[in-house]
Amino acid sequence: MQVDVQSLRQQGVELTDRALEELIPSFDTVPASIHGAMRHSTFAGGKRLRPLLAYQAAATIAGSLPRGIENLGAAIEMLHTYSLIHDDLPALDNDDLRRGKPTCHVVFGEAIAILAGDALQTRAFEVLANLDCPPVATVKIIGLVASAVGTVEGMIGGQVLDLESEHLKPTPELVEAIHRAKTDALIRVSVVAGGVFAGANDEDVVRLDRFGRKAGLAFQIVDDILDMTVDSAHLGKTAGKDQATEKATWPAVYGIDQSRRDAAALIDEAFAALAPYADRADGLKSVARYLVERQN
Ligand code: IPE
Ligand code: IPE
Ligand code: MG
Ligand code: MG
Ligand code: MG
Repeated sequence: MQVDVQSLRQQGVELTDRALEELIPSFDTVPASIHGAMRHSTFAGGKRLRPLLAYQAAATIAGSLPRGIENLGAAIEMLHTYSLIHDDLPALDNDDLRRGKPTCHVVFGEAIAILAGDALQTRAFEVLANLDCPPVATVKIIGLVASAVGTVEGMIGGQVLDLESEHLKPTPELVEAIHRAKTDALIRVSVVAGGVFAGANDEDVVRLDRFGRKAGLAFQIVDDILDMTVDSAHLGKTAGKDQATEKATWPAVYGIDQSRRDAAALIDEAFAALAPYADRADGLKSVARYLVERQN
């Protein structure tokens, strides 16, 4: 059954934003500048797709949303927001528009933006350490998430590859390695951690990982396509940046039409991993469909 993804998204955003509001120190907590910077980027209007994937993966395993899952979603969103603040820095992609607002370093200066990214990362792990699930699951989630944002096939490693590949002629192997690490790893762990929070067994983890791996790669392929096909006002970030900086993107290797076909095929392949869950996975599938159909 096709689930209405708009209402799932709205529910996910509300759940995540409420948790973030509680978990990030208030504007007037000393030192106020950094909390203002963390809040500026966090509440600038992100789609909250990684938390939503975690929630729907949990619902696939448990049959409904487990109590306390929103803190997992919020921690993942803090890590993602940290990655965006640093991605936009002059030393990385040098962007001045993010989520429709001036980037963190434009408003608060580079030093505070760097520290706000660091602070979102440490706060995220503090929140994970206090998750409302069995201690074994908590420890497992912390290990998986730390690895996914790390240097070996994780987000930071992917950002390094991405930067070092600018102006090179991209190969299929190179662009897949970049995408799997810089974006896929965090999407995949969002799905798997949501499942683990909800009590997934080893077989469930393998299935969710397989699903997340396909969906995560499709997500970055679509990000590359949107950079070339949608304007900055609708994207909420500077369009056309990838070609201008000669980034190693999927369309640079395969062209736009093949990239669109690849993203759609990956989602079909992702669905296959969820077959054993039948209609329990309908929510997760709807979110995955949205990942490739989105326009921003
Ligand atoms: C953008 O992610 C950065 C990538 C990893 C491609 P999103 O498209 O999820 O950005 P927000 O969170 O909605 O701003
Ligand atoms: C960013 O990839 C991936 C991470 C932030 C880890 P991009 O550089 O393509 O993301 P956008 O397009 O600036 O959002
Ligand atoms: Mg980048
Ligand atoms: Mg960027
Ligand atoms: Mg991009």
